[in-house]
Order: sequence, then C-alpha cells, then structure tokens
Amino acid sequence: MGYMNLNNNIRTEYMTLAHLEDVYAIELDTFSIPWEKEDFVKELTENKLAIYIVAFFGDEIVGYGGMWHIVNEGHITNIAATKKYRRQGIGTTILKRMLEIADEKEMIGITLEVRMGNADAMRIYSKFGFKAEGLRKNYYADTKEDAVIMWKDLT
Ligand SMILES: CC(C)(COP(=O)(O)OP(=O)(O)OC[C@H]1O[C@@H](n2cnc3c(N)ncnc32)[C@H](O)[C@@H]1OP(=O)(O)O)[C@@H](O)C(=O)NCCC(=O)NCCS
Repeated sequence: MGYMNLNNNIRTEYMTLAHLEDVYAIELDTFSIPWEKEDFVKELTENKLAIYIVAFFGDEIVGYGGMWHIVNEGHITNIAATKKYRRQGIGTTILKRMLEIADEKEMIGITLEVRMGNADAMRIYSKFGFKAEGLRKNYYADTKEDAVIMWKDLT
C-alpha cells in the first residue's frame, strides 16, 4: 500500500451526538487526561457557546475540533487527529474550518492553550499565525507542565 495524502479528501461537518462514539475513541487514544464522554454530551446539548466539528475521510471520522465563542473571541478547547493518519492534513483542515467559522461569526481573535512540550501542536498553530502570548504555570495536572497561551489576531 502506498503513501496516501488525505489532504484533499477530508471534509468537515458540525459535530452531533451521532458522532460521539467515534470522537470519543480518538479522545481516549490521544489525550493523557481525556474528557469524560459526558463532557462532550454537555458541549453538544447544553453549551450555547460551543462549536464543534468533525473531520471525515470517506465514512470514517478521523479528527475533531472545538471552540467556545465567548463574546467576540474564539477559545479552542480541543483538536485531535486520529493517530494512524497524523501529518496528512487533518489538523490543517480542522483549523482552516474553525478559522472560517470564526470569520463568519466576526470574531476578533482566537486563543488556545497548549502544553509546553507539545512541539507538534505548537508548530501547526504557529503555521496558522498563532503567537505565544503567555504562560499558565503548572497548568496540567498530570505532568505539572506549563500551558502556553497562544493568540491569533483576526482583525
Ligand atoms: C496536533 C494535531 C491535531 C495535528 O494534526 P495533523 O493532522 O497531524 O496535522 P497536519 O498533518 O495538518 O500538520 C500540519 C502541520 O503541523 C505540524 N506538525 C504536525 N505534526 C507534526 C509532527 N509530528 N512533527 C512536526 N510537525 C508536525 C507541521 O508544521 C505540519 O505541517 P507540515 O506537515 O507541512 O510540516 C495532531 O498531531 C494531534 O492530534 N495531536 C495530539 C492532540 C494534540 O496535541 N492536540 C492539540 C492540543 S492543544
């Protein structure tokens, strides 16, 4: 089987409860402190600020991302690509779509927190014009790692 770049074959949709099982499998496989499934349910059913999307390759859910629309800013809560297809453009497609949505909603900027040690994620955010603006010391409960606060200006 040859290398296949998924890049042009990934599409996104708004996340619904129908996507939850597949999304949650990626969540568990990805994060050292995963959310509870119930957290996603709340985001999708109760949190009026929440905007979540999933990425599909064919019928397969291969990633997701979410943000909160707080006043005129976007706060990215999570973004993940399934391990087996990393570095093939899923994260890029998700971020592009989130920035499109931010634009549609006339947000003035978008922010996120990333683990200091997560160089891959910081690289993709930098590529998209996010800048490191500050630190939250000892932010992550498991490793006591600092969080880097990144911000992308949309004005
Ligand atoms: C971060 C993440 C979503 C990126 O998704 P992805 O589909 O692999 O990313 P893409 O293929 O679109 O890569 C885009 C860019 O990100 C950077 N990048 C992604 N993975 C990388 C890696 N393993 N090494 C170096 N750079 C990397 C590169 O700049 C890359 O561009 P390039 O391939 O042209 O060099 C994915 O690695 C992931 O799910 N990580 C675990 C969860 C996580 O850390 N989420 C972020 C929490 S804040």
